[in-house]
Amino acid sequence: MSGLIPQSFIDELIARSDIVEVVSSRISLKKAGREYQACCPFHDEKTPSFTVSPNKQFYHCFGCGAHGNVVGFVMEYDRIGFVDAVEELAQKAGMTVPRDQSRRDDGLQDVYAVLAEAQQTYQTALKNNPEAIAYLKQRGISGTIARDYHIGFAPDAWDTVSRWAGGNREREAILDKAGLISARSSGGVYDKFRGRIMFPIHDTRGRPIAFGGRIMGDADGPKYLNSPETPLFHKGRQLYGLYQARQAQKKLTRLLVVEGYMDVVALAQFGLTESVATLGTATTGDHAEILFRAAPEIYFCFDGDRAGRQAAHRAMESVMPRLKDGRQAKFLFLPDGEDPDTLIRQRGLEEFEALLAAARPLSEVFFSRHQAQVDLNSLDGRARLVELTKPLLAQIPDGAFRDMMFERLGELARSSTVAPPPPSLPQAPERELQFRRPASPAQPSLVRQAVTLLVHHPGLAAVPAPVEQLIDYQREGVPLLIELYQWCRSHPGAVTAQLLFNWEGRPDHNALSKLANLPDPLAVNHNREAEFAGAIERLLGEYHRDLRVAQLAELTAKVEASGYASLSADEKAHYRNLMAGGTQSRPNVPKS
Ligand code: UTP
Ligand code: MN
Repeated sequence: MSGLIPQSFIDELIARSDIVEVVSSRISLKKAGREYQACCPFHDEKTPSFTVSPNKQFYHCFGCGAHGNVVGFVMEYDRIGFVDAVEELAQKAGMTVPRDQSRRDDGLQDVYAVLAEAQQTYQTALKNNPEAIAYLKQRGISGTIARDYHIGFAPDAWDTVSRWAGGNREREAILDKAGLISARSSGGVYDKFRGRIMFPIHDTRGRPIAFGGRIMGDADGPKYLNSPETPLFHKGRQLYGLYQARQAQKKLTRLLVVEGYMDVVALAQFGLTESVATLGTATTGDHAEILFRAAPEIYFCFDGDRAGRQAAHRAMESVMPRLKDGRQAKFLFLPDGEDPDTLIRQRGLEEFEALLAAARPLSEVFFSRHQAQVDLNSLDGRARLVELTKPLLAQIPDGAFRDMMFERLGELARSSTVAPPPPSLPQAPERELQFRRPASPAQPSLVRQAVTLLVHHPGLAAVPAPVEQLIDYQREGVPLLIELYQWCRSHPGAVTAQLLFNWEGRPDHNALSKLANLPDPLAVNHNREAEFAGAIERLLGEYHRDLRVAQLAELTAKVEASGYASLSADEKAHYRNLMAGGTQSRPNVPKS
């Protein structure tokens, strides 16, 4: 990049800029001898160790080691790229940045200009359209927020922006590069955005580079229409609202990642200006990098459903290779059917902040997601956990966080029963104990947990779970659990009252209605689907363990009565497997 701006120009720019003036326009400096001092803007401190030297024209922090010249300072402090910093300083110094010809003539300046023009046109159109204003009002958006985010309106016409081209091919090409028009098969072009509320997407310097347009109410067509990928707009690298978030707070300590334009705008309306939206895509590695460069702490807000968990998983994968020390990622799973927009309107900023304060750290979400896929009580399950997580953990940059994650993996992999040593026949009966789990009377049984969840949230049955595999598990409540699950599955959208009504007059009705009247077992931001899937998973694990214990007991009795030689080859193999703590249980106890 820098190669495109001649070094001689940069040298002159540094010479002409006064670093003291540039720095003191951003933080307050105190004169101390021949230098200036301040508390370092790049790390937290109480006593000033940041110095600016007018003679040497550079800055240095004795606390964190940050140092550089005026260009470097603007890049770091404003969190912008080299070219942007040079342009900013050049403008201040009254200099024009000379550019390599190829860059100057790439035509992008015209594209920027036409996009800025379109943004202005849409904003003016909004002011003149009472219906669009009413829509935004009804969604709780004030004039101030509409102005900060440059929200506009594309009238329901074919030529609001395309009329500028007036048939001129070159102008049409510019509009096309801006992503604003479509071509007619019969020749000519027309506006892509019509009859929509327009959300401009800004780059780091606040220039509009793309748009998202929302249809008002439920008219025909897709709810949101986004600009296509253009030379200026790559949605995997852009975050809606980042420019505004930075404008609102010079030194961001956190950023909230949400799904939609309206979420960002609604949060800002309530005073939470530090949110950005991915543009209908998963969180990419580029996103993660941009996010962490802007703030050390990132909160990801997802729906509590399966798609949300999937999205969280993708985000974790993008974030983990970038989790240097000092960076943190947290996850907030929202209650069913809510998004940050609806949530903050219903509950206000304070409660929303409380939800954020209770967001789950990445470490926890990461391990609970992977734990749910294995049986930690078996050696194979623990080995599987290591296999699943190691490649991801290996991507975390060196540092305390990485060490702690591996330590946690070690704890989990070693936890519960340690695998028994190779079997020696005479001690066989004692081995049995190793398969049994310690009873914990304080915890409601897994069956009860699963039933309670279903009674409170019948929609959970939409999660495909291997509930039916429990059919032969002789345990109180299991037949009820299976029937409940099947009923809920065949009645999508059913609520608790319907479920109770269906069980009316049957022996289980009383128990079910008692469970229904208990408080919801899960906190609002709990991931219910994961909770339910986890309960079923553990229940299956318990079933298989019980099955193994029963099979081992039966085979052991046979060995004691008639000797090891009396076992069939199959039984011998199975016996050895069970003794070794194997996970293979056979569905049927071998008949003697
Ligand atoms: P949502 O469907 O959750 O919409 O899409 P929303 O943000 O809650 O919007 P409102 O409240 O109904 O107005 C979330 C995001 O997914 C993308 C948009 O970026 C949107 O903000 N999306 C959604 C599309 O790109 N196209 C669509 O048709 C729908
Ligand atoms: Mn919404």
